[in-house]
Amino acid sequence: MQEKLKKHKKDALQKIKKASSRVELDRIQVAFLGKKGEISEILRGMGKLSTQERPVVGRMANEVKAKIEEELEKRLEVLKKQEEQQRLQEEAIDVTLPGLPVNRGRIHPLYRMQKELEDVFRSMGFSIEDGPEVETDYYNFEALNVPANHPARDMQDTFYIEGGYLLRTQTSPVQVRTMERQSPPIRIVAPGRCYRVDELDATHSPVFHQMEGLMVDRNISMAHLKGVLELASTKIFGPDRRIRFRPSFFPFTEPSAEVDVSCFNCQGSGCRYCSNKGWLEMLGAGMVNPRVLEMSGIDSEKYTGFAFGMGLDRMAMAKYGIEDIRHLWENDMRFLHQF
Ligand code: PHE
Repeated sequence: MQEKLKKHKKDALQKIKKASSRVELDRIQVAFLGKKGEISEILRGMGKLSTQERPVVGRMANEVKAKIEEELEKRLEVLKKQEEQQRLQEEAIDVTLPGLPVNRGRIHPLYRMQKELEDVFRSMGFSIEDGPEVETDYYNFEALNVPANHPARDMQDTFYIEGGYLLRTQTSPVQVRTMERQSPPIRIVAPGRCYRVDELDATHSPVFHQMEGLMVDRNISMAHLKGVLELASTKIFGPDRRIRFRPSFFPFTEPSAEVDVSCFNCQGSGCRYCSNKGWLEMLGAGMVNPRVLEMSGIDSEKYTGFAFGMGLDRMAMAKYGIEDIRHLWENDMRFLHQF
């Protein structure tokens, strides 16, 4: 029996040494120390031994058991460390690897134009106003001195909505809403979407953007209008671009003008962008018609004002050299990523 014990001990220790996983260790433990294991077997057979032999074998069996337990324990520690080491290696992050590229968005050229203009006008003391895109006939036309038979009201120009509403054809109704709410001095700009029944082509879109400007105070003159627009043009287009005022007509301004900027491409000599005119039309403007002031509750004896409405899409196209207004809507990443 003692021989047997020695053999089991040797066997067990060898196996433990070779064990390469915890599962294997568990199996060894069951095989030698479990209820049906080799050592238990021997302990169970002790009844057959003589009284001299019994304590000797008993002690030895306990020693072997303790030794095996001790070695199992030790091996388990080693294996645990190895496993941890392996896990650390597998989960290691190589901080020197290049990261995945993140596709950064850009600001849309139209929105950028709007923000730049807002900054320019804010620096001149204007505040930013907003108004509804679904308007009433009163604000879009009547209060702006557009008579009922004016061609701008034609079904072909205006998107009418049931219930007496329409999609505003210009940002000018924000002038009226502001004057009704505020008394002079007034200095505002109002950017936003406008709608007209128009065929979509390189320079026209049924949805487009304007920025309205309005300044009302004592002794405001056409000279103020020119000064403000010239400064804005210089800030937006740089000192080399010129602007010119052409006499024009709007029911809500008197006198009225259209303002052109020299062509970004040919600088005035004429090319295909400007249809050989050398100039690009940017905005309509003028001195606010006294009737418009009065209708909005402002005393036209005391106050005068100027107003302008610039085409934001056109401004963006002129500034960034965009040939086709449709580029602003197509969301082609190759186009948008240039800005
Ligand atoms: N609302 C005019 C248009 O859309 C532009 C304009 C605004 C003209 C303000 C004069 C004063 O054409």
